Amino acid sequence: MRVIFLGPPGVGKGTQAEFIAQKYHIPKLSTGDLLRESVDRQTSLGKEAKGFMDRGELVPDEVVIGLVEEKLTSPECQNGFLLDGFPRTVIQADELSVFLQKNGKSLNHVVYFSLPKTEIIKRISGRRSCPACKAVYHLESIPPKRDGVCDECQMALIQRNDDKPETIESRLAVYQDQTEPLIQYYKDRNLLSELDGSGLVAAVRERLLGLLTQPR
Ligand code: AP5
Repeated sequence: MRVIFLGPPGVGKGTQAEFIAQKYHIPKLSTGDLLRESVDRQTSLGKEAKGFMDRGELVPDEVVIGLVEEKLTSPECQNGFLLDGFPRTVIQADELSVFLQKNGKSLNHVVYFSLPKTEIIKRISGRRSCPACKAVYHLESIPPKRDGVCDECQMALIQRNDDKPETIESRLAVYQDQTEPLIQYYKDRNLLSELDGSGLVAAVRERLLGLLTQPR
């Protein structure tokens, strides 16, 4: 299966992507995670990306496209993949389409996660994550067993730099301006399914599985 998760920041894409990748035995490629890893390792790519990410802007297309294509050519992606947070611009979507065509492959699904803005802001502002194992929690809806501490590796949980209130609005504006056009882009190609992202994680998962198992 080759699938894209599309939607605003904080809507719950990453949370569901973990489960789907395991269930279908496909790698999850999250450009946000890949970029954050590069920032943590202080690679030249990470140093270039950091400023954009901290300001809530998109990292330049050529940087992200190079990163994704390198992953997609690796053996682990030959039988499918889940792209979480890529593409995010029409240029990225066009490049992906050319890349897949060249390799004789095509997408099976593009799932667009939708959620009202007030809920999105609640999800983003309550998110906390583990700097070591990258597990993601939420202060109210998915709290760790011990306040502020990861259940898996006992590290102190942190808030992402770009989840601070001053950056959330600019991320949402960037999404609306640069990523939302992809909804129509994939509708036109008859690949888009809209997923209601509201409700409990388990309820969203059930709806998502229903969409992915529907014949296109
Ligand atoms: P990225 O990491 O991709 O951020 P994002 O798309 O903004 O998405 P998020 O990670 O914020 O949210 P999510 O939808 O995965 O939600 P989650 O599951 O965590 O990108 C970060 C930055 O990297 C970008 O701003 C940009 O600078 C750069 N970048 C990345 N990709 C790029 C690209 N292609 N091109 C250019 N630049 C790029 O859930 C959110 C919270 O809600 C969590 O706390 C979770 O526990 C909770 N939650 C999840 N589901 C539920 C539920 N059903 N009920 C209650 N709470 C829930």
